[in-house]
Amino acid sequence: MSTKINIAIDGYSSCGKGTLAKALAHHFNYLFVDSGAMYRAVTWAIQKEKIELTKIDKVSDLLSRINIRFVYSEQDKFYQTYINDQNLEKEIRSMEVSRYVSEVSAIKEVRDFLVNQQQQIGLHKGVVMDGRDIGTVVFPDAELKIFMTARPEVRAQRRHHEIVSRGDTHTSYNDVLSNLTERDSMDSSRSISPLKPASDALVLDNSEMTREQQLTIAIDWVNDIIKNLS
Ligand code: DC
Repeated sequence: MSTKINIAIDGYSSCGKGTLAKALAHHFNYLFVDSGAMYRAVTWAIQKEKIELTKIDKVSDLLSRINIRFVYSEQDKFYQTYINDQNLEKEIRSMEVSRYVSEVSAIKEVRDFLVNQQQQIGLHKGVVMDGRDIGTVVFPDAELKIFMTARPEVRAQRRHHEIVSRGDTHTSYNDVLSNLTERDSMDSSRSISPLKPASDALVLDNSEMTREQQLTIAIDWVNDIIKNLS
């Protein structure tokens, strides 16, 4: 059996991290973990219980009651996000959650709780995880760290297209663009684990690249690393 590595993919909102991460996981038969979905799931739960973000005791109590899981859907051929027994895959992608998630993900207690779960998942290697702090905090020893970026207009176009194709015709391109630039700025400037490339990350700007081109580059990176390890 070939050596398995952990792959950390970080970068700005909507620059295709998930798409590349899923394709890499599929290619190498690795586990794909969308860490943003975990922050979104906590945000959804906080909103549902109408917890004020300044009430840290209430946030901690909520965290002690929720179990975030990824369950494979044969029908959709990908992992869906659950809290306890409730499938929240659709709810966590709403604009309501998107508007609030950066604030929730700046809370230390939330980050400690989720980083711990993410690190447990990575113990056995063979994981592709995408997020904002995977190469810097969650897996600082990941054998491959990719930092993805693309021009904001390109990212907003892609995310808007995705939202419309899910049947939401109320969200405009401008709403999406302003939400993602605002999130970029909050994610990069927060005091705990701000979004930034790890010093040893390989940068991938995919503004002008097809999905296939990105995947080919990343597969070559992985194969080079595995060759050097074995
Ligand atoms: O990847 P995404 O857009 O679904 O992530 C949603 C939010 O979660 C993002 O605005 C920042 C936060 N996040 C984070 O702080 N750390 C991570 N590892 C992943 C996401």
